[in-house]
Amino acid sequence: MRKILSDILRVKGYASVAAGSGGEAIAEAERENFSVALIDLMLPDMSGLDVMARIKSLSPLTEAIILTGHASMDSAIEATRRGAFSYLLKPYQVDDLLLNIRHGIDRRQAQAEIRRLGEALRQTQQAIVITDADLNFEYANPAFTRLFGYSLDEVTGKSVELLAVDAGLNSVLPAAIATEKGRFNGEALQRTKDGRTIPILLDVSPVVDEQGTVLNYVGSLTDLSDLKRMEESLRESEEKFRSISASAKDAIIMLDESGAVSFWNAAAETIFGYSSDEMLGKYMHKLCAPERLHKIYLAGLAKLVANGQGYPVGQTLELAALRKGGGEFPVEVSLSAVRHKDHWLAIGIVRDISERKQAEQKAQSYVEELTRANAELHNLNAKLTQAHNQLVQSEKMASIGMLAAGVAHEINNPIGFIKSNTQTLGKYVDELLQVVRAYEQVEALLPQHSELFAELHRIKIQIRFEYKKRDILALLDESNQGLERVTKIVSNLKDFSHMESQDKWIMDDIHKGIESTLNVIWNELKYTCEVKKEYGVLPPVECMLSQLNQVFMNLLVNASQAIETKGAITIRTGAIEDQVWIEISDTGMGILPENIKSIFDPFFTTKPVGKGTGLGLSVSYNIIQKHHGRIEVESEVGKGSTFRVWLPIRQSHDTAVVA
Ligand SMILES: Nc1ncnc2c1ncn2[C@@H]1O[C@H](COP(=O)(O)OP(=O)(O)OP(=O)(O)O)[C@@H](O)[C@H]1O
Ligand SMILES: [Mg+2]
Repeated sequence: MRKILSDILRVKGYASVAAGSGGEAIAEAERENFSVALIDLMLPDMSGLDVMARIKSLSPLTEAIILTGHASMDSAIEATRRGAFSYLLKPYQVDDLLLNIRHGIDRRQAQAEIRRLGEALRQTQQAIVITDADLNFEYANPAFTRLFGYSLDEVTGKSVELLAVDAGLNSVLPAAIATEKGRFNGEALQRTKDGRTIPILLDVSPVVDEQGTVLNYVGSLTDLSDLKRMEESLRESEEKFRSISASAKDAIIMLDESGAVSFWNAAAETIFGYSSDEMLGKYMHKLCAPERLHKIYLAGLAKLVANGQGYPVGQTLELAALRKGGGEFPVEVSLSAVRHKDHWLAIGIVRDISERKQAEQKAQSYVEELTRANAELHNLNAKLTQAHNQLVQSEKMASIGMLAAGVAHEINNPIGFIKSNTQTLGKYVDELLQVVRAYEQVEALLPQHSELFAELHRIKIQIRFEYKKRDILALLDESNQGLERVTKIVSNLKDFSHMESQDKWIMDDIHKGIESTLNVIWNELKYTCEVKKEYGVLPPVECMLSQLNQVFMNLLVNASQAIETKGAITIRTGAIEDQVWIEISDTGMGILPENIKSIFDPFFTTKPVGKGTGLGLSVSYNIIQKHHGRIEVESEVGKGSTFRVWLPIRQSHDTAVVA
């Protein structure tokens, strides 16, 4: 019987599994989910009702069709009560069975559909309600309960006005639904169970029967709170942006992906002189950048709109910009790239730095002026120090000059009579020696043994007469030389103290003076020195040349004395502006650094007694002072020394008289 049934079912297109007992059937149901189970009430091992209950618990959607004989009609009824889909009395018509199976399968599918829809309604996050035709709640899903706080039981049978915020709004919904043929889509404020008011997007659709009569309404309610909040904060931030950009001192400019201006704030209007209307949609560089910058501008912009990168992005640059009317001015530009949808936009903040640049320039020129002033001050200071040193030196000279003048005066008189006495003495000695020579001739005639003669001879030998006769002349000669030297010192002292200045100021040739001086001292120079001359072109100089000759002489003699064995003296001259200079340099021993400051002091000498008096340079210093010039010295021990004399070409009259 089971075999025949299986074959029939297969022929009709159903797959089936046959079970020999209740246990077998349950085991099959555990393995597989069947659409329909045909269960005979009379089974060898257990009751058909138990089998049905077991299978239903395994898969609730399996529909059971009970097969039973007359005797167990009650059981069959009991089976339908317990959830069997239908029953058939044996013997049954195959067509009846197939019809029942067909219905069973259909019902199972419908059940599955309802289940699915129910689950979907339960699980969706969207609040959904179903009302009757008079807008009384029939169903509300858990999302609705979460949103409004009302459970399904609490709303069932109640009007949707339960959610209304006030009387005014109460009437809106039904009226709207009526006018829109049962459809409504719009926002409304609704009240939750705990009294909060929330903005809701309401979408209502009618459910109608074939005649078009409204059976129900389905409503979907979306909480707009977050959206509203976002809109509000967006509005606020837009508002903020607008007020910031409107009150900003810097130009805020936005360019769209094509590089055209899409935003232009108030400061941009002020800075560039173009109104927002004039600029929107325009290419900024055409109006606001000098032509020479267009290439860089376009290259930078191309990179920026392509990928938000490029050299200027994220940087602050100093550039030149144009105002309406063509005036160029300096700006500081901070550029950033913003991604909007799938393209890049440029946002530029532009600051007019004209004033800052001017201030910088001013500051710079102040700094330069200050530096210049400082250098001048330095210069003045150096000059002051030099003047001070000269003053100290000349004061020293002046007081020493007075002393020297006194000394010279005092020495001059005794020297005068000593000199004349020595001369007289020389004459006397000469005469006396003439007498002696005459006596000696007489002596040759005297007899050899005369006693007196013997006595004379003894005395002559005793006093070494022959030697003294020669020496007395040498002594006189030496004394005369000594006197000459003293006379020279006294005359130097006189020069030094301006005692004699009868020289006249005339325009004279310095080179002529140097040459004549060289002639005078040539004897002293020629053995040790080679004299080189590097003369420049000199104009006639207002001077007292004979005095300057003394200067040249002192310098040249010093130079030759500094050269121990062999060396060179170089004489250079030149003129700069209103001055001439004469330089005498030697390859001699040089001057010790600690001596440099003393060499112009009178009587300072490093030379052995008799060779130097230490007056040469001090006399020279005075003569140069008198000429309103100055003398400089550079020296390196072991290498040589250079003395440079500077003289003004013209003497100013009142100062010339002072000399
Ligand atoms: N060209 C020079 N090289 C090295 N030392 C020098 C030179 N000129 C001057 N001096 C130094 O300066 C000192 C002073 O020179 P200054 O001409 O005043 O006196 P002096 O030469 O010693 O004696 P005077 O010139 O009276 O015979 C010298 O003793 C010497 O030490
Ligand atoms: Mg000297």
